[in-house]
Amino acid sequence: MNRVRMYIDGDFVESSSDAWFPVYDPSTEEIIAEVPDGNPADVDRAARAARAAFDKGPWPQTTAQDRGRLLFKLAECIRQQAAELAELESRNCGKPIVEAEYDVNDTATCFEYYGGLATKVLGSVNPVPDNALSLTLKEPVGVAGQIIPWNYPLAMAAWKLAPALAAGCTCVLKPAEQTPLSILQLAKSFEEIGFPKGVINIVTGFGEGAGSPIVAHPLVDKIAFTGSSAVGKLILRSAADSIKRVTLELGGKSPNIFFADADFDAAIDGALFGIFVNQGEVCSAGSRILIEKSIYSKFVDAMAAKAKTIKLGPPLDRSTKMGPLVSKEQYERVRSYQEIGKGEAKLVSGGGRPQSFAKGYYVEPTIFADVDNNARIAREEVFGPVATLIPFEGESEAIRIANDTPYGLAAAVWSRDIFRALRVVKAVRAGVVWVNHMQPTYVEAPWGGYKQSGFGRELGPGGIDEYLETKQVHINLNEQPIGWY
Ligand code: NAI
Ligand code: MG
Repeated sequence: MNRVRMYIDGDFVESSSDAWFPVYDPSTEEIIAEVPDGNPADVDRAARAARAAFDKGPWPQTTAQDRGRLLFKLAECIRQQAAELAELESRNCGKPIVEAEYDVNDTATCFEYYGGLATKVLGSVNPVPDNALSLTLKEPVGVAGQIIPWNYPLAMAAWKLAPALAAGCTCVLKPAEQTPLSILQLAKSFEEIGFPKGVINIVTGFGEGAGSPIVAHPLVDKIAFTGSSAVGKLILRSAADSIKRVTLELGGKSPNIFFADADFDAAIDGALFGIFVNQGEVCSAGSRILIEKSIYSKFVDAMAAKAKTIKLGPPLDRSTKMGPLVSKEQYERVRSYQEIGKGEAKLVSGGGRPQSFAKGYYVEPTIFADVDNNARIAREEVFGPVATLIPFEGESEAIRIANDTPYGLAAAVWSRDIFRALRVVKAVRAGVVWVNHMQPTYVEAPWGGYKQSGFGRELGPGGIDEYLETKQVHINLNEQPIGWY
């Protein structure tokens, strides 16, 4: 069996219990590797290593310039092995190879962006009313615990590691149990690139055994998490005990809003891409598609017809547009929502498992029409290729339905009327709003949610702030005693 060890304190190691768990290819349901089942003792080892690396040399003496250069080298290393990383990612997640290639490029770009930003962390001077110099300094928050999901494994690792390392933090990162392989492959290069041991630790394992001990660990200063709302709530509660800094990205039920004046062909494409890219396993998936009544029936027909032409296939086939879901668990979850939807709304496309695959966690791209916004399929995050089509009459109803959700990660609005489009942009409570597009995500621009989609922002210049503390320094310029007593 292909046993891939985790990476702690500069070494590839087994779990202290010598327990392993399987990692699958979701298109064949076969085991492709085993990784260590990390436990609290392993997390403790990683947290101590990260703490020691943060507190003692050489990392604290590494200049911002050198940290930036390390991130550029890491990006270069990713670009050199881009084809291998994309293949591994595609095989392990089930995502189409072409999308995996895009993700790997984006991963390298993220390290480049924060490599450049490492030297642009600025303090400031405060105009205090005294003969004194008042400074504001920015310092790394310390040891960052980072827990990531399985939908974009390498990119999610970059979103977490890049700003943390640029800021001067050290990291204990736990990949999702379904998809640990790409980041462990990359870890093979960490030492050669020049990262001191303990600066980056990758602990594999499940949420209970390895995720929750990271959150509880007293030597960890901050938690950055992307995943389900249920786990986000647990993390927030647990982090309270040690007043850890927390940032959460918890997904959503994002509205994709179409007015009658939108370019019709672009609209259909945008509706399909918004919900079906990456098998719908996207935190910002446009899963609630709001359509103005005057174009509703034409829109439903066109979208359903085009959805039937989406090519499902093996992830490594370059013509594949949709692969299998990541795991048996996710497959069963999405299948159950397909059945729930049949009792709640009108099925117009898909709705089951495609007949043509004997194996693999494939589901059909599924569209429900005439959905009530109060239906479970319109309220609960499915995290799979299940679209809900909801008609609306006029701008104010569109806004009301769009905001009628506990989530607020993303939204999109399609219209040729710039006044209306911008009114909707302002009225929608979401952290990311697109106009006449859905899903493009840039490492240069902030990402994160309103409401129960979480808090804190990743990416963009502010992404590094989540890994910085603010220190006020007061320098007295009087040489006399204060003279108070
Ligand atoms: P999850 O939230 O359980 O897993 C995400 C990460 O959290 C994984 O690394 C997991 O090991 C870790 N984790 C799990 N329990 C933990 C705990 N008690 N303490 C610390 N870490 C823990 O997500 P799961 O179960 O894989 O998927 C369930 C649903 O969550 C999906 O159907 C989807 O709706 C949502 N989800 C949202 C994501 C997003 O991007 N916002 C990503 C993945 C899932
Ligand atoms: Mg879970």
